[in-house]
Amino acid sequence: MNKQPIGIFDSGVGGTSIWKEIHALLPNEDTIYLADSINAPYGPKGKKVITDFCIKNTELLLNKGCKLIVVACNTATTNAIDLLRDLYDVPFIGIEPAIKPAALRTITSAVGILATEGTLSSELFHRTSNLFTKNIQVVEQIGDGIVELIESGKLHSEEMKSLLKIYLNPMIAANIDYLVLGCTHYPYLIPILVELLPNHVKIIDSGEAVARQTKAVLEKQDLLNTQESIVKLQFFTNGNPNIMESLLPNKLQIEYLRF
Ligand code: DGL
Repeated sequence: MNKQPIGIFDSGVGGTSIWKEIHALLPNEDTIYLADSINAPYGPKGKKVITDFCIKNTELLLNKGCKLIVVACNTATTNAIDLLRDLYDVPFIGIEPAIKPAALRTITSAVGILATEGTLSSELFHRTSNLFTKNIQVVEQIGDGIVELIESGKLHSEEMKSLLKIYLNPMIAANIDYLVLGCTHYPYLIPILVELLPNHVKIIDSGEAVARQTKAVLEKQDLLNTQESIVKLQFFTNGNPNIMESLLPNKLQIEYLRF
């Protein structure tokens, strides 16, 4: 089992930001990444639809022999991870917005969070947020349209910049000092966000924490691949492979797969 791959899925290409953290921390592990781009964005869809997509993605990864599954999508995690854990025996690692560290570190007592509608309206997000943000102001913003622009190759477009300006303005007005990125597509926005935000605002996401948690669970369950050999890194998308290719290091093969 130790030599089996880690499975990673997202509604699209965003979860590659998590794949990068996992591969950096666990370079001996084979990985299979699945981008359900044809169904992106998950954010505006209801819990039932999101859950069905997650089941389909999980079963595909399990059929390919994955030993652990990383749900590299905040929307999928906050809506479906409890059910996935009930349904399947393999360990699941999820990702949630890093609201706790932001709430603990803020000096201005105001933090911003940019995430999808599906994440911000989820019970899991509300539970975590209520626990840690009692005495601070949280400026929540749904990132409508951002995932669509990234999925269509318009990451570095004027359209993106204008949209982000609109979303950041209320946060800047509220004097936030932390911006939490609650969607795995958003780390790709960091260079644009840095340009638009005042210097003192720190941006945080959960990518590194997910990689650390993945390692910890593999260790605990004795599933780590400790053998040094040439790793197999597979990427599948049911969308346009060129978009994913533009976000990944050269030489990685991206295959179109109908699912
Ligand atoms: N990467 C997904 C997330 O982390 C995007 C969700 C979507 O497709 O709307 O939430």
